[in-house]
Amino acid sequence: MAVLVTGGAGYIGSHTVLALLARGDEVVVLDNLSNASAESLRRVARLSGKAPRLIEGDIRDRQRLRDLLATGAIQSVIHFAGLKAVGESTREPLAYYQNNVSGTLVLLEEMRRAGVSQLIFSSSATVYGAQASVPYVETAAIGGTTSPYGTSKLMVEQILRDAARADSRFTAIALRYFNPVGAHPSGEIGEDPHGIPNNLLPYIAQVAVGRLPALGVFGNDYDTPDGTGVRDYIHVMDLAEGHLKALDALPRQAGYRAYNLGAGRGYSVLEMVRAFEQACGQSLPVTIKARRDGDLAAFWADASLADRELDWRVSRGLAEMMADTWRWQQNNPHGYR
Ligand code: NAD
Ligand code: WQD
Repeated sequence: MAVLVTGGAGYIGSHTVLALLARGDEVVVLDNLSNASAESLRRVARLSGKAPRLIEGDIRDRQRLRDLLATGAIQSVIHFAGLKAVGESTREPLAYYQNNVSGTLVLLEEMRRAGVSQLIFSSSATVYGAQASVPYVETAAIGGTTSPYGTSKLMVEQILRDAARADSRFTAIALRYFNPVGAHPSGEIGEDPHGIPNNLLPYIAQVAVGRLPALGVFGNDYDTPDGTGVRDYIHVMDLAEGHLKALDALPRQAGYRAYNLGAGRGYSVLEMVRAFEQACGQSLPVTIKARRDGDLAAFWADASLADRELDWRVSRGLAEMMADTWRWQQNNPHGYR
């Protein structure tokens, strides 16, 4: 029996597929390659010595899913597929609800029809919204999201909760990622954003490699130790391992559960820049800019629930996140292209 990984050619998906293959799981990837390249999976195959099966297709293609699930070969689903750019989601909200919410509904309906009852979902710390107090803990109310992207994650969490309540065979885990960074230590696979990166680490890495002139720091007047935004950065390989732990926990669990996956501590933008400078051995040009709309000052995870119930915790620190990002960026200055 195989694990179906939707969006498995993407950043977090490809690292998780590699971790699954490395421990001997069979994997089928369904990805429409809208934000990924099949090259990521060719490299995963090289690194693991096993080729994941790639089906190039869309989760909203109901017949495709129906045919795939009807083979009886799929035991569980890890669902990464979706759109993820916060700013774009405010300009294109319908595309985000269509892909992230309607797409998930098609997947859930076809899973139910085929009797596939175990799902891991990529949620986000953003579901805690602007009013939550730090550290974010799973017992806190979610909501008050500040973008259609965040609301799409919130809606899917609610759908999963209701679906599990209505059908005792269905079990689902939502993993609320904090800020994923880093790359596989081989430097062969990593994050490959199209265009100008929205997120901090890919931006810093592209400055270091000379593709971008300087990092703009979005505000240095927050109520944080150095005035810049504080986030909980998590190494993508720790995150990948969290999915394996959650997959193993699914058969023991009933209903729906949500877990934070974070390191449980925050670093500021300037701390991240300094740590990257250490890793790449050069100083990086930085300019202070206005605050970015919708940004919060500081948040990090209470990650103790995943520790207790999934036996999962991070094992990679800031230096490793930076060294691995730099290795990937240096070896692949233009990503997979
Ligand atoms: P990514 O864009 O690299 O991966 C998403 C993958 O899904 C891509 O390969 C894309 O081609 C594919 N895809 C998109 N729509 C699809 C569709 N309709 N059908 C089939 N494939 C489709 O993003 P990522 O960073 O790897 O994120 C994976 C998941 O984790 C997403 O759901 C994202 O919202 C969530 N998440 C990401 C972060 C982050 O900072 N990277 C944080 C929290 C949550
Ligand atoms: C981190 C810090 C910025 C870029 C977003 C989504 C979230 C999740 C992860 C999917 C902040 C600062 C950034 C730059 C900067 N994604 N920054 N200059 O905003 O915490 O989270 O990605 O679920 O939902 O909202 O991540 O990497 O964009 O920013 O100063 O060029 O770096 O202000 O303090 P964020 P980020």
